[in-house]
Amino acid sequence: MNPVTKEQIESLKKELSVTVVAHYYQKDEVFEVADITGDSLELAKKAKDSDSEWILFCGVGFMGQSVKILAPQKRVAMPKIACCAMARMIDSTYFDASVEAMEKAGIPKEEILPITYINSGAEVKAKVGKMGGAVCTSSSAVKIIQKALKQGKKILFVPDRCLGQNVARMMKLKSAVIGIDNSEALKGADIVCYNGFCSVHQLFTLKDVEFFRKRYPDIKIVVHPECDPAVCEVADFVGSTSQIIKYVQSLPLEQKVAVGTEYNLVHRLREKNTFVLSSTKPECPTMNETTLEDVYSTLQAIKKGEVINEILVDEDTIHWAKVALERMFEYLEG
Ligand code: 13P
Ligand code: SF4
Repeated sequence: MNPVTKEQIESLKKELSVTVVAHYYQKDEVFEVADITGDSLELAKKAKDSDSEWILFCGVGFMGQSVKILAPQKRVAMPKIACCAMARMIDSTYFDASVEAMEKAGIPKEEILPITYINSGAEVKAKVGKMGGAVCTSSSAVKIIQKALKQGKKILFVPDRCLGQNVARMMKLKSAVIGIDNSEALKGADIVCYNGFCSVHQLFTLKDVEFFRKRYPDIKIVVHPECDPAVCEVADFVGSTSQIIKYVQSLPLEQKVAVGTEYNLVHRLREKNTFVLSSTKPECPTMNETTLEDVYSTLQAIKKGEVINEILVDEDTIHWAKVALERMFEYLEG
Protein backbone atom coordinates (compact mmCIF):
# COMPACT_ATOMS: atom_id res chain seq x y z
CA MET A 1 0.00 0.00 0.00
CA ASN A 2 1.27 3.50 -0.84
CA PRO A 3 1.99 5.76 2.15
CA VAL A 4 -0.76 8.21 3.06
CA THR A 5 -0.08 11.78 1.91
CA LYS A 6 -0.87 15.06 3.65
CA GLU A 7 -2.95 16.04 0.59
CA GLN A 8 -5.22 13.00 1.08
CA ILE A 9 -5.75 14.01 4.71
CA GLU A 10 -6.44 17.66 3.82
CA SER A 11 -9.06 16.73 1.24
CA LEU A 12 -10.86 14.31 3.63
CA LYS A 13 -10.79 16.97 6.37
CA LYS A 14 -12.49 19.50 4.09
CA GLU A 15 -15.09 17.01 2.90
CA LEU A 16 -16.03 15.99 6.44
CA SER A 17 -15.59 19.28 8.32
CA VAL A 18 -13.43 17.69 11.01
CA THR A 19 -11.01 19.74 13.13
CA VAL A 20 -7.68 18.01 13.67
CA VAL A 21 -6.00 18.91 16.94
CA ALA A 22 -2.39 17.96 17.81
CA HIS A 23 -0.14 18.41 20.83
CA TYR A 24 3.46 19.57 20.26
CA TYR A 25 4.79 16.11 21.20
CA GLN A 26 3.21 14.50 18.13
CA LYS A 27 5.39 13.26 15.28
CA ASP A 28 6.12 15.94 12.63
CA GLU A 29 3.97 14.24 9.97
CA VAL A 30 0.92 14.35 12.28
CA PHE A 31 1.67 17.82 13.70
CA GLU A 32 1.79 19.23 10.16
CA VAL A 33 -1.82 18.26 9.31
CA ALA A 34 -3.29 19.81 12.47
CA ASP A 35 -5.70 22.78 12.43
CA ILE A 36 -5.13 23.48 16.13
CA THR A 37 -1.87 23.06 18.07
CA GLY A 38 -0.84 24.22 21.54
CA ASP A 39 -0.19 23.25 25.13
CA SER A 40 -2.85 21.37 27.12
CA LEU A 41 -4.68 24.52 28.23
CA GLU A 42 -4.75 26.04 24.74
CA LEU A 43 -5.85 22.75 23.13
CA ALA A 44 -8.74 22.31 25.57
CA LYS A 45 -9.91 25.91 25.04
CA LYS A 46 -9.52 26.05 21.26
CA ALA A 47 -10.97 22.58 20.58
CA LYS A 48 -14.09 23.17 22.72
CA ASP A 49 -14.70 26.50 20.95
CA SER A 50 -14.18 25.18 17.40
CA ASP A 51 -17.32 25.01 15.28
CA SER A 52 -16.97 21.56 13.77
CA GLU A 53 -19.04 18.65 15.07
CA TRP A 54 -16.05 16.28 14.99
CA ILE A 55 -12.68 16.69 16.73
CA LEU A 56 -9.89 14.34 15.76
CA PHE A 57 -7.49 14.57 18.70
CA CYS A 58 -3.87 13.55 18.15
CA GLY A 59 -2.41 13.37 21.63
CA VAL A 60 -2.98 11.30 24.74
CA GLY A 61 -6.27 10.10 26.25
CA PHE A 62 -6.82 12.78 28.90
CA MET A 63 -6.55 15.50 26.23
CA GLY A 64 -9.31 14.07 24.02
CA GLN A 65 -11.38 13.33 27.13
CA SER A 66 -11.07 16.95 28.32
CA VAL A 67 -12.60 18.20 25.07
CA LYS A 68 -15.48 15.70 25.37
CA ILE A 69 -16.08 16.81 28.98
CA LEU A 70 -16.03 20.52 28.13
CA ALA A 71 -18.13 20.15 24.97
CA PRO A 72 -20.21 16.94 25.35
CA GLN A 73 -22.27 17.81 22.24
CA LYS A 74 -19.13 17.31 20.13
CA ARG A 75 -17.94 13.95 18.92
CA VAL A 76 -14.28 13.32 19.70
CA ALA A 77 -12.21 10.54 18.16
CA MET A 78 -8.53 9.76 18.59
CA PRO A 79 -6.42 8.07 15.89
CA LYS A 80 -4.85 6.10 18.77
CA ILE A 81 -6.23 5.93 22.31
CA ALA A 82 -2.77 6.45 23.75
CA CYS A 83 -2.71 6.97 27.48
CA CYS A 84 -0.36 9.33 29.35
CA ALA A 85 1.66 7.10 31.72
CA MET A 86 1.51 9.69 34.50
CA ALA A 87 -2.29 9.98 34.22
CA ARG A 88 -2.48 6.20 34.67
CA MET A 89 -0.61 6.44 37.98
CA ILE A 90 -3.82 7.50 39.73
CA ASP A 91 -7.44 6.31 39.59
CA SER A 92 -10.44 7.03 41.82
CA THR A 93 -9.40 4.34 44.36
CA TYR A 94 -5.90 5.79 44.74
CA PHE A 95 -7.43 9.27 44.93
CA ASP A 96 -9.68 8.16 47.83
CA ALA A 97 -6.68 6.48 49.51
CA SER A 98 -4.76 9.78 49.31
CA VAL A 99 -7.59 11.65 51.01
CA GLU A 100 -7.64 8.91 53.69
CA ALA A 101 -3.86 9.17 54.17
CA MET A 102 -4.28 12.89 54.85
CA GLU A 103 -7.13 12.20 57.28
CA LYS A 104 -4.97 9.62 59.09
CA ALA A 105 -2.26 12.27 59.37
CA GLY A 106 -4.77 14.42 61.26
CA ILE A 107 -6.11 16.64 58.46
CA PRO A 108 -9.95 16.59 58.41
CA LYS A 109 -11.57 16.03 55.00
CA GLU A 110 -13.36 19.43 55.17
CA GLU A 111 -9.92 21.08 55.27
CA ILE A 112 -8.67 19.38 52.09
CA LEU A 113 -9.03 21.04 48.69
CA PRO A 114 -7.94 18.81 45.78
CA ILE A 115 -6.34 20.16 42.63
CA THR A 116 -5.66 17.77 39.78
CA TYR A 117 -3.20 18.32 36.97
CA ILE A 118 -5.09 17.97 33.66
CA ASN A 119 -2.94 14.85 33.08
CA SER A 120 -5.47 12.63 34.88
CA GLY A 121 -8.51 10.55 33.91
CA ALA A 122 -12.10 11.82 33.87
CA GLU A 123 -12.97 9.85 37.07
CA VAL A 124 -10.24 11.60 39.06
CA LYS A 125 -11.32 15.00 37.71
CA ALA A 126 -14.91 14.15 38.74
CA LYS A 127 -13.78 13.28 42.30
CA VAL A 128 -11.93 16.60 42.47
CA GLY A 129 -14.96 18.51 41.15
CA LYS A 130 -17.23 16.90 43.77
CA MET A 131 -14.86 17.95 46.56
CA GLY A 132 -14.91 21.59 45.43
CA GLY A 133 -11.53 21.44 43.67
CA ALA A 134 -10.25 22.37 40.23
CA VAL A 135 -8.08 21.21 37.35
CA CYS A 136 -4.83 22.97 36.46
CA THR A 137 -2.36 22.71 33.60
CA SER A 138 1.40 23.30 33.57
CA SER A 139 0.87 26.90 32.42
CA SER A 140 -1.88 27.69 34.93
CA ALA A 141 -0.80 25.75 38.05
CA VAL A 142 0.61 28.73 40.00
CA LYS A 143 -2.45 30.90 39.40
CA ILE A 144 -4.90 28.07 40.20
CA ILE A 145 -3.13 27.21 43.45
CA GLN A 146 -2.91 30.91 44.43
CA LYS A 147 -6.69 31.18 43.99
CA ALA A 148 -7.39 27.82 45.67
CA LEU A 149 -5.34 28.70 48.75
CA LYS A 150 -7.66 31.67 49.41
CA GLN A 151 -10.17 29.11 50.77
CA GLY A 152 -7.75 28.56 53.68
CA LYS A 153 -7.54 24.80 53.07
CA LYS A 154 -4.67 22.40 52.51
CA ILE A 155 -4.11 21.49 48.86
CA LEU A 156 -4.05 17.83 47.82
CA PHE A 157 -2.19 17.96 44.50
CA VAL A 158 -2.50 14.96 42.14
CA PRO A 159 -0.93 13.19 40.30
CA ASP A 160 2.38 14.96 39.49
CA ARG A 161 4.64 15.26 42.53
CA CYS A 162 7.19 17.36 40.61
CA LEU A 163 4.68 19.96 39.40
CA GLY A 164 3.25 20.22 42.93
CA GLN A 165 6.71 20.64 44.46
CA ASN A 166 7.77 23.13 41.78
CA VAL A 167 4.71 25.30 42.36
CA ALA A 168 5.33 25.17 46.13
CA ARG A 169 8.96 26.25 45.60
CA MET A 170 7.98 29.13 43.28
CA MET A 171 5.33 30.32 45.74
CA LYS A 172 7.61 29.82 48.77
CA LEU A 173 5.17 27.32 50.28
CA LYS A 174 5.82 24.04 52.09
CA SER A 175 5.15 20.74 50.31
CA ALA A 176 5.16 17.09 51.39
CA VAL A 177 4.60 13.82 49.55
CA ILE A 178 2.13 11.08 50.55
CA GLY A 179 3.94 7.77 51.10
CA ILE A 180 7.31 9.46 51.54
CA ASP A 181 6.89 12.10 54.23
CA ASN A 182 5.57 11.46 57.76
CA SER A 183 2.31 12.72 59.28
CA GLU A 184 3.96 15.77 60.83
CA ALA A 185 5.33 16.83 57.43
CA LEU A 186 1.92 16.29 55.77
CA LYS A 187 0.25 18.33 58.50
CA GLY A 188 2.79 21.13 58.18
CA ALA A 189 2.61 21.35 54.37
CA ASP A 190 0.54 23.81 52.33
CA ILE A 191 0.57 21.45 49.34
CA VAL A 192 0.39 17.69 49.87
CA CYS A 193 1.46 15.90 46.70
CA TYR A 194 0.55 12.49 45.32
CA ASN A 195 3.67 10.55 44.32
CA GLY A 196 3.11 10.39 40.54
CA PHE A 197 5.62 11.54 37.92
CA CYS A 198 6.40 11.67 34.21
CA SER A 199 9.11 9.15 33.31
CA VAL A 200 10.06 11.18 30.22
CA HIS A 201 10.77 14.35 32.22
CA GLN A 202 12.71 12.38 34.88
CA LEU A 203 15.39 11.88 32.20
CA PHE A 204 16.65 15.46 32.66
CA THR A 205 19.05 15.50 35.58
CA LEU A 206 21.35 17.88 37.45
CA LYS A 207 24.29 16.02 35.86
CA ASP A 208 22.94 16.95 32.40
CA VAL A 209 22.69 20.60 33.47
CA GLU A 210 26.30 20.50 34.77
CA PHE A 211 27.47 18.83 31.54
CA PHE A 212 25.98 21.57 29.32
CA ARG A 213 27.00 24.46 31.59
CA LYS A 214 30.60 23.19 31.63
CA ARG A 215 30.71 22.82 27.87
CA TYR A 216 28.92 26.11 27.07
CA PRO A 217 29.11 28.46 30.10
CA ASP A 218 26.58 30.93 28.59
CA ILE A 219 23.98 28.31 27.66
CA LYS A 220 20.35 28.77 28.77
CA ILE A 221 18.72 25.79 30.45
CA VAL A 222 14.99 25.58 29.69
CA VAL A 223 12.74 22.93 31.24
CA HIS A 224 9.12 21.83 31.72
CA PRO A 225 7.73 21.91 35.30
CA GLU A 226 7.26 18.11 35.22
CA CYS A 227 11.06 17.93 35.67
CA ASP A 228 12.62 17.23 39.04
CA PRO A 229 12.47 20.29 41.37
CA ALA A 230 16.28 20.24 41.75
CA VAL A 231 16.60 20.67 37.96
CA CYS A 232 13.89 23.37 37.77
CA GLU A 233 15.59 25.30 40.55
CA VAL A 234 18.81 25.76 38.55
CA ALA A 235 17.13 26.30 35.16
CA ASP A 236 16.99 29.72 33.46
CA PHE A 237 13.38 29.19 32.39
CA VAL A 238 10.60 26.82 33.48
CA GLY A 239 7.35 26.71 31.51
CA SER A 240 4.64 24.79 29.69
CA THR A 241 5.30 23.57 26.17
CA SER A 242 3.90 26.77 24.59
CA GLN A 243 5.81 28.95 27.06
CA ILE A 244 9.04 27.06 26.26
CA ILE A 245 8.52 27.61 22.52
CA LYS A 246 7.79 31.33 22.98
CA TYR A 247 10.80 31.83 25.27
CA VAL A 248 13.31 29.97 23.09
CA GLN A 249 12.09 31.62 19.89
CA SER A 250 12.48 35.05 21.50
CA LEU A 251 16.23 34.45 22.05
CA PRO A 252 18.84 35.49 19.47
CA LEU A 253 19.72 32.54 17.24
CA GLU A 254 23.32 32.66 18.50
CA GLN A 255 22.17 31.95 22.06
CA LYS A 256 22.71 28.27 22.87
CA VAL A 257 19.87 26.51 24.69
CA ALA A 258 19.45 23.03 26.19
CA VAL A 259 15.81 22.08 26.49
CA GLY A 260 14.31 19.56 28.89
CA THR A 261 11.09 18.32 27.33
CA GLU A 262 9.86 15.79 24.77
CA TYR A 263 12.08 15.16 21.75
CA ASN A 264 9.60 16.01 18.94
CA LEU A 265 9.04 19.51 20.35
CA VAL A 266 12.76 20.18 20.85
CA HIS A 267 13.92 18.96 17.46
CA ARG A 268 11.56 21.27 15.52
CA LEU A 269 12.11 24.23 17.83
CA ARG A 270 14.90 26.16 16.18
CA GLU A 271 17.33 25.68 13.30
CA LYS A 272 20.57 25.83 15.34
CA ASN A 273 22.17 26.08 18.80
CA THR A 274 19.43 23.96 20.37
CA PHE A 275 20.23 20.83 22.38
CA VAL A 276 18.17 18.15 24.08
CA LEU A 277 19.05 18.30 27.79
CA SER A 278 19.80 14.55 27.98
CA SER A 279 22.03 11.94 26.40
CA THR A 280 18.98 9.60 26.32
CA LYS A 281 16.32 10.35 23.69
CA PRO A 282 13.37 11.74 25.66
CA GLU A 283 10.54 10.30 23.62
CA CYS A 284 7.04 10.00 25.08
CA PRO A 285 6.08 6.50 23.91
CA THR A 286 2.33 7.05 23.85
CA MET A 287 2.47 10.47 22.17
CA ASN A 288 4.54 8.82 19.45
CA GLU A 289 2.05 6.03 18.76
CA THR A 290 -0.11 8.11 16.40
CA THR A 291 0.84 7.95 12.71
CA LEU A 292 -0.42 9.67 9.58
CA GLU A 293 -1.99 6.31 8.57
CA ASP A 294 -3.96 6.31 11.84
CA VAL A 295 -5.22 9.85 11.15
CA TYR A 296 -6.29 8.82 7.66
CA SER A 297 -8.03 5.61 8.70
CA THR A 298 -9.91 7.38 11.51
CA LEU A 299 -11.10 10.06 9.05
CA GLN A 300 -12.23 7.34 6.66
CA ALA A 301 -14.11 5.61 9.46
CA ILE A 302 -15.91 8.89 10.25
CA LYS A 303 -16.80 9.18 6.57
CA LYS A 304 -18.24 5.66 6.49
CA GLY A 305 -20.10 6.17 9.77
CA GLU A 306 -18.14 3.29 11.35
CA VAL A 307 -16.36 5.40 13.92
CA ILE A 308 -13.33 3.95 15.69
CA ASN A 309 -11.77 5.17 18.94
CA GLU A 310 -14.56 7.59 19.82
CA ILE A 311 -14.17 9.13 23.30
CA LEU A 312 -17.24 8.38 25.42
CA VAL A 313 -17.65 9.41 29.05
CA ASP A 314 -20.73 8.71 31.20
CA GLU A 315 -23.03 11.61 32.09
CA ASP A 316 -22.34 11.77 35.83
CA THR A 317 -18.56 11.72 35.29
CA ILE A 318 -18.88 14.41 32.61
CA HIS A 319 -20.94 16.56 34.97
CA TRP A 320 -18.43 16.55 37.87
CA ALA A 321 -15.28 16.54 35.75
CA LYS A 322 -16.70 19.56 33.89
CA VAL A 323 -17.23 21.33 37.20
CA ALA A 324 -13.49 20.88 37.95
CA LEU A 325 -12.38 21.95 34.46
CA GLU A 326 -14.67 24.99 34.36
CA ARG A 327 -13.48 26.03 37.81
CA MET A 328 -10.00 26.29 36.26
CA PHE A 329 -11.33 28.69 33.60
CA GLU A 330 -13.23 30.71 36.27
CA TYR A 331 -10.08 30.97 38.43
CA LEU A 332 -8.07 32.09 35.40
CA GLU A 333 -10.59 34.74 34.41
CA GLY A 334 -11.24 36.05 37.92
P1 13P B 1 1.75 21.09 28.36
O1 13P B 1 0.41 21.44 28.94
O2 13P B 1 2.83 22.00 28.85
O3 13P B 1 1.68 21.02 26.88
O4 13P B 1 2.19 19.66 28.93
C1 13P B 1 1.57 18.48 28.59
C2 13P B 1 2.41 17.32 28.93
O5 13P B 1 1.92 16.21 28.96
C3 13P B 1 3.79 17.51 29.23
O6 13P B 1 4.42 16.28 29.43
FE1 SF4 C 1 2.29 12.01 29.95
FE2 SF4 C 1 4.91 12.44 30.30
FE3 SF4 C 1 3.97 11.77 27.90
FE4 SF4 C 1 3.45 14.21 28.94
S1 SF4 C 1 5.45 13.38 28.34
S2 SF4 C 1 2.00 12.87 27.90
S3 SF4 C 1 3.23 13.66 31.13
S4 SF4 C 1 3.94 10.50 29.76
